[in-house]
Amino acid sequence: MKDNYDLVVIGGGPGGYEAAIRAGQLGMSVACIEKRVYKGEPALGGTCLNVGCIPSKALLDSSHRYEATKHDLEEHGITTGDVEIDVAKMIERKEGIVKQLTGGVAMLLKGNGVDWLQGWGTLVDGKGDEKKVKFTALEDESETVITAKNVILAAGSVPIDIPVAPVNNEEGIIVDSTGALDFTETPKRLGVIGAGVIGLELGSVWRRLGAEVVVYEALPEFLAAADKDISKEAGKLLKKQGLDIRVDTKVTNAEVKDGQVVVTSEKGGESSEETFDKLIVCVGRRAYSEKLLGEDSGITLTDRGLVEVDDQCKTNLDGVYAIGDLVRGPMLAHKAMEEGMMAVERIHGEKAQVNYDTIINVIYTHPEIAWVGLTEQAAKEQGYDVKTGSFNLAANGRALAQSEGQGSIKVVADAKTDRLLGMHAICAGAGDIVHQGMIAMEFVSSIEDLQLMTFAHPTISEAVHEAALSADGRAIHA
Ligand code: FAD
Ligand code: NAI
Repeated sequence: MKDNYDLVVIGGGPGGYEAAIRAGQLGMSVACIEKRVYKGEPALGGTCLNVGCIPSKALLDSSHRYEATKHDLEEHGITTGDVEIDVAKMIERKEGIVKQLTGGVAMLLKGNGVDWLQGWGTLVDGKGDEKKVKFTALEDESETVITAKNVILAAGSVPIDIPVAPVNNEEGIIVDSTGALDFTETPKRLGVIGAGVIGLELGSVWRRLGAEVVVYEALPEFLAAADKDISKEAGKLLKKQGLDIRVDTKVTNAEVKDGQVVVTSEKGGESSEETFDKLIVCVGRRAYSEKLLGEDSGITLTDRGLVEVDDQCKTNLDGVYAIGDLVRGPMLAHKAMEEGMMAVERIHGEKAQVNYDTIINVIYTHPEIAWVGLTEQAAKEQGYDVKTGSFNLAANGRALAQSEGQGSIKVVADAKTDRLLGMHAICAGAGDIVHQGMIAMEFVSSIEDLQLMTFAHPTISEAVHEAALSADGRAIHA
């Protein structure tokens, strides 16, 4: 550890560690302070690598393979014996992937000359040219004040608690997403509060492995942020898979009794009770700023507890930036990473910018649900004269050949200029498919551009072509 750095990054999640690496590449002296201890070891990678994006996708993959092997092979003429899932082994595989990736990040920091300081970082004073950061070591709780020309705050987020369902991951009955990634066996009955991204992903994992899953959603509308055509289709498909999603239903109490949890909920003034083996509480996340800011840090927070920043992630103090889940915008790893790069490049005097209009959302259910840009409803609200096109995967040869003929792809465009404003998909690989929409939007493409390109046959991407053709009534296979 040095006394003085060009840059100190507080938080070693995807936003923070990528910023630190970029700064190392640019020749700055950099420290990245991270206090996380995962399964007894100090760990980089933040929520995403340890208890978020990566472990959840590992379990989604295992559970998908299990379900597909058990139920989907017969039509291919493949017979299997009894198919069983060893939950402990599945969790062990997940831990292996987490360890490999977080260890990889430690190597990358080292390789780029970044000092990883294992402990808490507190911005004591962010005013003036020499910012003061207090480092409290995990090892012995010793405190050292280091100075830095620049600071990036990247402390991330934690789950929101609701008093009606107190989480206790150690007890393992009412849990948050972290607890739900570590069940040692498949619950017979699983309750989920919140039909958002975590509820749908982790609900899917345990349903595929045999749990009966009930999802309580307080809002009357399912997946309100998605395009209505897509959320309607998603609701139908997920219901068919066995997710019992109850919208407009408020959980008023959850109590552990005899090793199970009794959930009381209310819909239309009527109250009912159900018993589950486990309950996942996933009603959103909040910015995390515990021990991050000293009393004289000088940093302005919003009324929601986020660090206030402008479009370039600059806080109210020169040379202090904040990124990722700690600031406005979607709580997504790729958004945090790009903000980290932008902040560092701005510190380096470059004109980097994040295009917030083309941040992709993906929900990793099967089929995946993904979108970029404006929904049809948002485009209309913004005053566009909207035209749309969509194409059903049931008419896509590759999708059928792969037993993936579910879902659709939709494009949203400005009817006056033909400019593409959004792409929405629910289909196998939707998360990858909508990257085509992102690239097209970045290059200000029109629907006609998409119509004039040659898409390979047979691919799922052909449905993007057909959706664009359908916007002008020209789809061939519809
Ligand atoms: P974080 O990843 O939260 O990292 C911040 C780090 O800072 C933490 O490790 C914390 O320990 C550390 N820290 C905090 N305060 C201090 C301090 N004072 N001193 C030192 N260290 C500190 N996003 C996606 O894009 N795709 C997905 O598939 C996806 N799946 C998810 C699944 C789950 C179950 C969850 C919970 C989240 C998922 N997310 C996903 C969201 C994603 O994890 C976050 O958006 C992302 O991790 C935010 O990155 P960050 O760097 O801002 O913060
Ligand atoms: P979320 O915001 O996606 O969904 C929370 C849901 O809970 C909403 O539908 C909300 O209406 C509902 N809700 C809120 N309070 C409620 C209550 N008291 N009772 C019943 N329902 C209630 O939040 P979630 O799923 O917790 O995920 C947090 C964040 O993590 C996401 O917003 C996303 O940013 C990130 N994430 C991203 C993933 C991805 O990119 N694939 C995967 C998982 C998480």
